[in-house]
Amino acid sequence: MREPVLTRLFEAAMRRLGSVVGRDDHEPLSAWREQPVTYVSVPPSQAQRSTLPRFQRTAGDLPNPGYGGRSAALRARLLNAYTPARPVVDRRMFAGRTKILQSLIHAIEEERLHLVLYGERGVGKTSLLQQISQAAKDARYLVTYIDCGQRTEFDETFRAVAAGIPLMYHSAYGPTSVESERGDTLADLLGPEPMTVAAALEALSHIEGARVLLILDDFDHIGSEEFRHEIAELLKRLSDRAVYVQALIAGVPAELAALVGQVPSLHRNVVAMRIPRMMDDEIRDIIGKAETVSGVHFDDEALDAIIAACAGSPYLAKLLGYRAALAAVDHDRETIEAEDVGASIQDAIDDLSKTVSRHGQLRIEELTRRGQLPALAALARASQATGGWYTMEEVSTALRSDPLPPRNTAAVIKELVEHDILLEIEGEGHEHAFRFVGPTLPDYISLLVARSRWFGAKPDPATAALENRV
Ligand SMILES: Nc1ncnc2c1ncn2[C@@H]1O[C@H](COP(=O)(O)OP(=O)(O)O)[C@@H](O)[C@H]1O
Ligand SMILES: [Mg+2]
Repeated sequence: MREPVLTRLFEAAMRRLGSVVGRDDHEPLSAWREQPVTYVSVPPSQAQRSTLPRFQRTAGDLPNPGYGGRSAALRARLLNAYTPARPVVDRRMFAGRTKILQSLIHAIEEERLHLVLYGERGVGKTSLLQQISQAAKDARYLVTYIDCGQRTEFDETFRAVAAGIPLMYHSAYGPTSVESERGDTLADLLGPEPMTVAAALEALSHIEGARVLLILDDFDHIGSEEFRHEIAELLKRLSDRAVYVQALIAGVPAELAALVGQVPSLHRNVVAMRIPRMMDDEIRDIIGKAETVSGVHFDDEALDAIIAACAGSPYLAKLLGYRAALAAVDHDRETIEAEDVGASIQDAIDDLSKTVSRHGQLRIEELTRRGQLPALAALARASQATGGWYTMEEVSTALRSDPLPPRNTAAVIKELVEHDILLEIEGEGHEHAFRFVGPTLPDYISLLVARSRWFGAKPDPATAALENRV
């Protein structure tokens, strides 16, 4: 089987990567691989369903005249405030993460390291990169931000970097040359032939007095193995020289393992950092910032329900907040109450259930009926805490003070493994680790738990419908 081998490779790589940014050394089998998560769509609110669909705002984001008036304007503000499917770019809307930002900046500025950020989809990697990018620009770094895709190649990536380096930093030109005054960049000196790592290094070797930050987001989306190899090679050879080009890469640990595996001598110069889910106060901060912008208000109970249901996911917090706010606006209220959050949790469950196998839903429903939701909740929490793989010890920690005998949980784990809902592997030292097969399962379970705790257990309509068909 491929997984244990890769997992060990990654773990070994992580152990060797000296981290200055407080990486948890007790992350044995966790979070080495990220699975794609489907972002769920944001449906129109109830009130709009009764009419034929039409755009509510003009392209300039103004409310469409004759459509809804005040509440349409409020809806537009809500959408701007929550943007569940968009990373935060506006600094004023960026919540929490202060320590992580400080550590990242320190690693770039003081340690001159390359950085790799990894974590579940929706945990906030792109939003962090955006803030770092702005902070670096403020400090006069030359920043190139590349959103990697299937087809990203080295040639276009390096040309983009070069286009961000004015010739005033080139030893043969300097600030007073005609070319510099004309605004030429390093890209203007590159020939038409496809860029190689050697050519890129040669071009960079003439640069003085500039610090360049290359940000590669969604590194795991890249289709080309060759490109990843070229980036690893570039980083390694940059590290051997005094050229101040640093890379900040976001993606999945498997790609980090591949990077490090290709160039073992990179270890000293790369720091890897897992981006964890957010703390309750950070989620509170997200909702608070969105309140300020949108003008709506969450009452205490509604806020607590969101915090419990989102399980530290900023993505879910925004999705739930947005939908709860829409539900309140539909009822002509600007204060959001727990029942609005209840409706938004149900919507999110319905959406997420589309990403969970029918078989998985039935098994969860069956365990819930047998009173095992707390055990499922503990497994979901362990998975959310580590970002993927977890051990029994991590499950015990996740159980906190829940009065549940651990052997119940062990029996639930066994059942889930037998039904192919959990993967099980044996790590170094014979400790066993588990991971949910579907990446959305932990959040799905958290939402079911929140629904049952806050709004009384109802059978999930989607699951009930499936059961009737069995
Ligand atoms: N620090 C933050 N403050 C406010 N919202 C955030 C923060 N981090 C993430 N979000 C929100 O969470 C969602 C997912 O964030 P994103 O940066 O796209 O995650 P990732 O790149 O890890 O998939 C987006 O809606 C984004 O607006
Ligand atoms: Mg992203």
